[in-house]
Amino acid sequence: MEKINVGILFGGRSSEHEVSRVSASSIIKNISKDKYEIYNIGITKSGEWFLFSGDVSEISSGKWEENRSNKKAFIFPDTGARGLMVIDGTGKTEFIKLDVVIPVLHGKNGEDGAVPALLQLANIPFVGCHMGAASACMDKVITNSVLTYNGINKPKFNWFYFYDFQNDAAKYIEETEKLIKKYPMFVKPANAGSSVGISKVNNKEELIESIYIAAKEDEKVLIEEGIDGQEVECAVLGNNELFASAVGEIAPSNDFYDYDAKYLSGSSELYIPAKIPEAVAKEIQEIAQKAYKVMGCSGLSRIDFFVEKDTNKVILNEINTFPGFTDISMYPKLMEYSGIKFAELIDKLIALAMSRGN
Ligand SMILES: Nc1ncnc2c1ncn2[C@@H]1O[C@H](COP(=O)(O)OP(=O)(O)O)[C@@H](O)[C@H]1O
Ligand SMILES: [Mg+2]
Repeated sequence: MEKINVGILFGGRSSEHEVSRVSASSIIKNISKDKYEIYNIGITKSGEWFLFSGDVSEISSGKWEENRSNKKAFIFPDTGARGLMVIDGTGKTEFIKLDVVIPVLHGKNGEDGAVPALLQLANIPFVGCHMGAASACMDKVITNSVLTYNGINKPKFNWFYFYDFQNDAAKYIEETEKLIKKYPMFVKPANAGSSVGISKVNNKEELIESIYIAAKEDEKVLIEEGIDGQEVECAVLGNNELFASAVGEIAPSNDFYDYDAKYLSGSSELYIPAKIPEAVAKEIQEIAQKAYKVMGCSGLSRIDFFVEKDTNKVILNEINTFPGFTDISMYPKLMEYSGIKFAELIDKLIALAMSRGN
């Protein structure tokens, strides 16, 4: 049987560059080498693309960038090539046909639809959501608006452009307090990730301060009602026929699941299954699938929720179209718990990409 050529993209011009490298390493270690011929394509933090043929350990450590055998390589948008254009040191070019690409990119300039757009232009099948769904899920204001319209519970929210806020701060603060009614609130950049730029605020002064922090990441600022409850997540897989995993829970080590709790202190706990009643878990699986369809997702997504304390009300937080894929990440863990092992999960994702076409 002929092997399928798989391009694996990692890194990227994103605040989640490092996480992406660890996610890609896990995928490269777990993917079947009998079925697939692997091409690792690294994108530096400044946005340069290289074909990397060295050892996978250099990807997670970041040393891959210093490897002298790296050649410039990028996805060629011309559909005639349907793959990678590789340029060696002498300027000689070569094309490698790719049957499918796994864009293991988190956050901006990747998960936000930028790379799916390029792959759609190039007419190369790829794992994960199309550009429209990817960019709509990346923008938390769009996600909140579309889901609320479709009857899915979201925290109360308000949003504005920082430019407008600077011209009339009092108006936007008053409007926000009137809409959300009580503190704590969460201030977020509409487009970011890994909790970068997010603050929990307890009063007006903190609210104003945090708007400036969020605006460093994105012009568009979102403010949400703070939900007191458990944080739970559901992994969804599929194009038309969907599979929703068991529900998992995160118990953040800090006041909320901030950057430190996610990646630095390492003491946040995962519980699979989540410590919630079975009926609530079932409700979450149903809402996860509905939200996935409403947003136009395909391939995969991880849908994150809150289960409100005392009431058990299910409130959707956000949708990640390329969630963390490290050995200890929630998405592969939930799938494994639900009966799909890592290597098999990759097979399924590739099959979904190839059957969807482009
Ligand atoms: N409305 C909210 N109520 C309570 N906690 C929140 C709220 N929004 C965000 N958080 C906390 O902040 C974390 C990061 O927010 P999230 O919207 O998931 O952003 P990111 O895309 O950076 O993961 C969440 O995991 C949660 O701990
Ligand atoms: Mg999140």
